[in-house]
Amino acid sequence: MQTRYRTAADMGEDMRRAVEDALWAPSVHNTQPWRFGVRGSRISLRADPDRRLGVADPKGREMLISCGAALYNLRLSLRAQGYDPVLRLLPDPDRPHLLADVHLEPDEEPDQQTLREHAQIRRRRSHRGAFRPETVSAGVLTAMRYDVEREGARLIEAVDSHVKGALAALTDAAEHLQRRTPAYAAEIGRWAPSPRTARKDGMQEGAYPRQAPETSPNFPARDFARGQGWGTEPAQGEAQREGQGVAGVALLLVSDGDGPADWVRTGQALQRALLRAAEGDLAAAFHTQALEVPELRAFIRAHFCRDAYPQMLLRIGAPEGEGLDTVRRPIDDVMIVEP
Ligand SMILES: Cc1cc2nc3c(=O)[nH]c(=O)nc-3n(C[C@H](O)[C@H](O)[C@H](O)COP(=O)(O)O)c2cc1C
Repeated sequence: MQTRYRTAADMGEDMRRAVEDALWAPSVHNTQPWRFGVRGSRISLRADPDRRLGVADPKGREMLISCGAALYNLRLSLRAQGYDPVLRLLPDPDRPHLLADVHLEPDEEPDQQTLREHAQIRRRRSHRGAFRPETVSAGVLTAMRYDVEREGARLIEAVDSHVKGALAALTDAAEHLQRRTPAYAAEIGRWAPSPRTARKDGMQEGAYPRQAPETSPNFPARDFARGQGWGTEPAQGEAQREGQGVAGVALLLVSDGDGPADWVRTGQALQRALLRAAEGDLAAAFHTQALEVPELRAFIRAHFCRDAYPQMLLRIGAPEGEGLDTVRRPIDDVMIVEP
């Protein structure tokens, strides 16, 4: 196929479109901790440390996973627009917040699989609560595992029901601890504004159910409403009415190292797997509370990760009804065109 000729103006539009796609990545508490700089044929991604969770995420691990997810969307969007994005991770040791430089090379027209994957970026939503009873096909899980490995991380499925139960119980312990610790609770409060907010970030009322349907085993949800009665009415499926809330497949996303480059890679792997799941009409529910408590994270690493580093704990399944709402900041708040 032919490479299409593009003017500098075309390229500017294409890069803007790619950044718009990047914004639809998941981020912890919807902090959207990223900034994009566009210059010539290069897009740089920076972490925005003002949006780091100082209490839950002092090292910026979850911040960099979130940025990595945005970076994957950026790369995918560029590929879908017929570019070959040449990536340099953490290109300057003196500027640790500069996470990536992406240089655009013209490429051939994208293939159908790239376009299908790209179409999931705006469809994907985090899920909170139970799933429908259908089982997740082994084919989708195999494809997700492969995708994650291609990005330099690994997926471990909690196949054994005791392991799954233990991960749910550890999530419960972490949630309990965080609710009782004023600094954690205050931080959730800062990122879960009241329903009247005009903000375009954080966990807003439409993004979580008023009462998260329980699952078996039960993976507790975060306390975004803090006793205020906020949240949406969950879609009531039959399984939930009968009190059999399905937890879905529990997965640990792990990496061999535990530094900034590993976190950015893990974020890319996460997003690639989430888009693959979305292609199969599946969604992910995240439960990362236990990974924010150092002792619990060390326990999970030692017992369930064969000494790899646990980066995310999630459940995958078929969601009930429409996805939850989510908001994003406008592109001009996060992208600057550098002279
Ligand atoms: C590193 C990371 C950790 C997360 N942890 C949780 C979590 O513990 N509980 C939860 O409900 N959502 C969690 N999320 C999902 C975010 O809340 C979600 O991505 C954000 O609100 C944007 O919504 P969306 O994913 O539907 O676009 C996490 C996301 C990331 C990237």
